[in-house]
Amino acid sequence: MAGQTYDAIILGAGAAGMMCAAIAGARGRRILLVDHADEPGKKILISGGGRCNFTNIYTAADRFLSANPHFAKSALGRYSPEDFIALVERHGIAWHEKTLGQLFCDGSAAQIVAMLEKECASVGVTMALGRPVTNVAHGDGQYRVTITGQDCHAPALVLATGGPSIPKIGASGFAYDVARQFGLSIVQPRPALVPLTLGPDDALFASLSGVSADVEVRWGKTRFREAALFTHRGLSGPAMLQISSYWQHRTSISVNFLPDRDGGWLADEKQERPRASVRRTLAQALPERLADALLERLALQGDLANLADKALRQAGARLGDWAFMPDGTEGYAKAEVTAGGISTADLSSRTMEATRMPGLYAIGEAVDVTGWLGGYNFQWAWASGWAAGQAI
Ligand code: FDA
Repeated sequence: MAGQTYDAIILGAGAAGMMCAAIAGARGRRILLVDHADEPGKKILISGGGRCNFTNIYTAADRFLSANPHFAKSALGRYSPEDFIALVERHGIAWHEKTLGQLFCDGSAAQIVAMLEKECASVGVTMALGRPVTNVAHGDGQYRVTITGQDCHAPALVLATGGPSIPKIGASGFAYDVARQFGLSIVQPRPALVPLTLGPDDALFASLSGVSADVEVRWGKTRFREAALFTHRGLSGPAMLQISSYWQHRTSISVNFLPDRDGGWLADEKQERPRASVRRTLAQALPERLADALLERLALQGDLANLADKALRQAGARLGDWAFMPDGTEGYAKAEVTAGGISTADLSSRTMEATRMPGLYAIGEAVDVTGWLGGYNFQWAWASGWAAGQAI
């Protein structure tokens, strides 16, 4: 490995790095793929509950957050979910659509890692695993990377070390450090697709830990209709993870607990079934424990017949627009991804090469492009890895 010359050195043998290596290797490039972890694709292995939600058939640039919402279009347009499905099928990996266009392996996420390893091996990619990178330098048109005391050189260097979410499996902000070293700017990174925490005012909801409900959650104009899950610390589940990527500190989110009913629903029920209790009525639409907690907050009890229409309409309106003021998130320890990262303003959207630092590339989660929950982040890793793999 040491002293050898490569056409490109790729730092990070995760989703984007392995895709980039396989594509560039297939073009005859000599590639060194380096990772400090002793096995590749650790995040792939734990993804999608162990089954890897490897893409989403509804992939489109509007399902990604970035300071430049147009940046992802080029790469996503040139390497589509269908391209990745074709690769998965060539390797005989069975898959299924779970919901909302999300494709999962029938078997295990390990099949995706094995597939990428095979693709890399078949085109002669050199893998250096369990090797911390101690220094990166540039001079005379060459990048010099020091890996466990040994220097390797190449005219191209690809940053594919992802973001700092889930540090316990080796995630780091290393890509940002190297990017900064070469003058690229960083959009403030923050945990995304992360559970939200609630303060003492909402202590009542902590008793609902484990309860989930189909809700519509809204922050500004952004809304998601998916399941929410109450936890002992706050709010999780797909709906809350989605909105967390948009949420900003010291702002509230709004939850519609009855997305299929209008605000006058309780008053209408009173006409239909005046002898029914408000508790029984609400518990038909929501999990019982949640109905109880909400009614306690609304200070509403008794039979519908004994409650004024006005009070029922007000309660219906609140249930459709319940404000929660999160006091934070569970942070990088629990965040599925990191939003922000290497600024797209400094990269070519076609090749992922730094516009003012020839030969330096950044791909995957390290870049300021963050997908919704549901296979979008892997599709970005494949597509940006493919784009750079065509260019190096
Ligand atoms: P990735 O994190 O995959 O790879 C980075 C590599 O760089 C790692 O191998 C790491 O060891 C290495 N590295 C880090 N620092 C280094 C250093 N200093 N030196 C050398 N190497 C270094 N997405 C999705 O689309 N569908 C899903 O089902 C899921 N599920 C999911 C579950 C969980 C629990 C998490 C945490 C995340 C997901 N994701 C997901 C998100 C997805 O895993 C993520 O967006 C991609 O793995 C990003 O791919 P990258 O290749 O950019 O980084």
